[in-house]
Amino acid sequence: MLKEKLLELREQAIENIGSADGLKALQDVHVRFLGKKGPITEVLKGMGKLSAEERPVVGQLANEVRKMIAAKIEEKKADLEAKLLEMKLESEKIDVTLPGRKTVTGNHHLLGSIIREVEDLFIGLGFSIEEGPEVEQDYYNFEALNLPKDHPARDMQDSFYITDEILMRTHTSPVQAHTLEKHKGVGPVKVICPGKVYRRDNDDATHSHQFMQIEGLYVDHNVRLSDLKGILTVFAKHMFGADREIRLRPSFFPFTEPSVEMDISCFRCGGHGCNVCKGTGWIEILGAGMVHPNVLRMSGFDPSEYTGFAFGMGPERIAMLKYGIEDIRNFYTDDIRFLKQFNRA
Ligand code: PHE
Repeated sequence: MLKEKLLELREQAIENIGSADGLKALQDVHVRFLGKKGPITEVLKGMGKLSAEERPVVGQLANEVRKMIAAKIEEKKADLEAKLLEMKLESEKIDVTLPGRKTVTGNHHLLGSIIREVEDLFIGLGFSIEEGPEVEQDYYNFEALNLPKDHPARDMQDSFYITDEILMRTHTSPVQAHTLEKHKGVGPVKVICPGKVYRRDNDDATHSHQFMQIEGLYVDHNVRLSDLKGILTVFAKHMFGADREIRLRPSFFPFTEPSVEMDISCFRCGGHGCNVCKGTGWIEILGAGMVHPNVLRMSGFDPSEYTGFAFGMGPERIAMLKYGIEDIRNFYTDDIRFLKQFNRA
């Protein structure tokens, strides 16, 4: 009886194992046949009623059936796991022979990186960065810079007016007046002011109604023209090469006295004359001068106590010279093919 029962259980188990379609179902089969409350345990429990001859025979068979079912389950388990792995590999298949996809990375805009380079240099010289508004009061753009309402030099910079008293700043020099005011007559003031400026110009290869400037201002006791010359020499060598020389030519700005224009020896031909310097050996870079006493006075500094220098340069011009860029509009039209060429930092 028990023997037949065992053989029948074996058949059932084999069938159940065969039709188990997943690890969960297989686990259920394991519990059903081999678990503590399963039929084989039942058979073993009933063995006490058997005769002495029958007992070892049934006992042995029960063990064999149990082992066999366990082995079959293990076999099936390995089989199911292999199939699962295969499915996973199939669904996650990658073609390692495909060429890689290049990640597109941006780079700094050339103007931004020129400005940063100038800022870094001057920060190293003890200057700090100052900014001012692009929509400016007439007072700061002109009057505080020694350009009263009827001054003819106002025509040097055609302006976009918003009202009679408010305009788009035509240069970064108003930041000089703002910064001096903030210091309330006490030096030193040592700042670099980069930013956008606006002029009523018709756009062409060398003119733009909007462009950038970097202003410099140093006001302290005993600041002299020779200090300006020294700083500008350091700047020229840093931006255009260690063997650059500079020269200062007399010029005019209402807010500086004396006013100068700075040239650098041509970095292309070294001063012999070429098409970059138009045969002169020199390239004009920026305007500068000693801060006019009226400017100091109007912004709360005593000109008998303080002197200073200021300069203003155009990062577009620096970039155009350095890289032979012929059209200023390239900076503003966001043509990625242009911008990509200048991955400087
Ligand atoms: N603001 C002047 C310009 O735009 C440049 C300048 C700045 C000149 C500071 C002298 C001192 O042309």
